[in-house]
Amino acid sequence: SIPAENVQALANETSMNPEMEIPLRYIRPDLGHHQDNINSIIDEVVPIIDMKRLLDPNLSSQESSKLHHACMEWGFFQVVNHGVDDEVIEKMKVDLEEFFKLPLKEKEVFAPLSGGLQGYGQKLVLNEEKLEWQDMMFLITQPVLARNFRFWPTSPPTFRSTLDKYSAELKSVSMSLLTAIAKNLGLKPQVLHDVFKEQQRMRMNYYPPCPKANQVLGINPHTDAGALTILLQVSDVQGLQIKRNDQWLPVQPLPHALVVNIGDALEIVTNGKYASVEHRVIVNNKKERLSIAAYHSPSFDKIIGPLPEIVQGGKEYYKTMKFEEYMEFHFLAKVEGKNHMDFMKL
Ligand code: SIN
Ligand code: FE2
Repeated sequence: SIPAENVQALANETSMNPEMEIPLRYIRPDLGHHQDNINSIIDEVVPIIDMKRLLDPNLSSQESSKLHHACMEWGFFQVVNHGVDDEVIEKMKVDLEEFFKLPLKEKEVFAPLSGGLQGYGQKLVLNEEKLEWQDMMFLITQPVLARNFRFWPTSPPTFRSTLDKYSAELKSVSMSLLTAIAKNLGLKPQVLHDVFKEQQRMRMNYYPPCPKANQVLGINPHTDAGALTILLQVSDVQGLQIKRNDQWLPVQPLPHALVVNIGDALEIVTNGKYASVEHRVIVNNKKERLSIAAYHSPSFDKIIGPLPEIVQGGKEYYKTMKFEEYMEFHFLAKVEGKNHMDFMKL
């Protein structure tokens, strides 16, 4: 693998020296003016699910069918009234902004060890693929015993306790959503909890402004591997786009909302009833953008396949295998530039 350079440092250099060109490995000539075609499709809006209504016995049935529809037809939705303490979210935003503001030397103390994934740095580059315009902090946050504090920032001093609280809050949001989803699928709530409760990992993203914003991507098009991803758009700057009817549709930052999407593992256990939808991130030419994605996934030894309660003797569309094995396919498909879900389909 080829190490990528720190993008924040690169962005600083280019902003101080307007003559300086951005390295070609970030530039995508085929991208076109991706910020321009937003306007033509902005009339469609990702569904908004009200968690308070979802949990209210009198209002729940209407909100549940909205959720079911969002999971089947969109693979994405925004959750409002999610019950996460506003103070926890605000503190998480502030602490993360503070961390990324630290001098590079102080952040690099938390760089991944060779071959490791956790810590502060850039995505591992597997081949000649284009580089992403972002730096990130990747951490295992649940179960608590799996945490490796070697990689948890100590500055600002509240960072660890804030992340601990935020992680617990998001775990509970994911459990509530999985309960509602199980009900919609006619499953006992425990069925999905058993498969998905174990792991939570967080990817905290920093996208510096880019003078060639129209020709770079913050994150390449991809689907998420796990069950549910819960995203906090820390900055009020648009960046996330989802593939919808063959076009890229922006997900607008909505105050107090969390963006949720279905991952591959949930598509597989639902035998394709729910969709794991492709998405990507664009960057801004003037403003930085921060976000936190929390992935809720099965543990590596869990066996993932279409649930018999859903297949009901019909055709299974996906293979059954250990999540670990599935992750290897996911990885391999990337190296070979193929659609990893093709490996999974029967
Ligand atoms: C993603 O994790 O795929 C999206 C992150 C973001 O919106 O910044
Ligand atoms: Fe993603």
